[in-house]
Amino acid sequence: MLTPEQYAEEIYAEDEQLNKVKQSIEDCGMRDVSIAPGYGRLLTLLVKTSGAKAVLEIGALGGYSGICMARGMNGDGKLLSLELKEDNADLARRNIAEAGYGEIVEYRIGPALDSLAQLEEQGERFDFFFIDADKENYPAYLEYAIKLAHPGAIIAGDNTLLRGRTLNPDKNGPAVLAMRKFNEMIARDERLLSAFIPAYDGLALAIVK
Ligand SMILES: C[S@@+](CC[C@H](N)C(=O)[O-])C[C@H]1O[C@@H](n2cnc3c(N)ncnc32)[C@H](O)[C@@H]1O
Repeated sequence: MLTPEQYAEEIYAEDEQLNKVKQSIEDCGMRDVSIAPGYGRLLTLLVKTSGAKAVLEIGALGGYSGICMARGMNGDGKLLSLELKEDNADLARRNIAEAGYGEIVEYRIGPALDSLAQLEEQGERFDFFFIDADKENYPAYLEYAIKLAHPGAIIAGDNTLLRGRTLNPDKNGPAVLAMRKFNEMIARDERLLSAFIPAYDGLALAIVK
């Protein structure tokens, strides 16, 4: 029998553009840890329905989630993507340009915490955040997202289940502890209205009140 996620993927047509992105990641010899297709569609939907014009992504890899969010913006607005590795940002830049969204995307290279501190100093504000980088820093990324948010901004955080490790009491490494803290912050912080989606590898969603 199919899993719910497999069923969900089966009812959608192949997405040639996004398949190319996945292939390009493999061709570069990198591990493809792009967002699950179902959550990519959800990002497009959320960006579109919220009317977000200033989107901040933390963790670009090959540009898969960037394309999904750019689709929701209809080419109107700005997507700033924070990425540690120059090579990943180059690949994402090429893929996003090929998808037709090169004009609206900017990559900032380096540790995201440094870029976030700069953005705070510059007084930048965003309508939509997608957190999908090193898991140990998720709680700090969430704090920054709240600080940099316009009222009503949406925050999405991927991989909240860490392939089951978040739920396993025997797993207590730094990434797991940070993810549990992040999930509890999302659920309980009074500045947020939130939901936790336990499909695929888990996605946390919040609106900054
Ligand atoms: C899970 S992948 C991102 C996948 C991408 N969001 C997608 O769905 O298409 C994580 C990315 O975060 C980047 N990364 C890891 N640590 C980082 C850090 N401290 N600052 C910025 N980016 C980081 C990695 O280089 C990698 O490209």
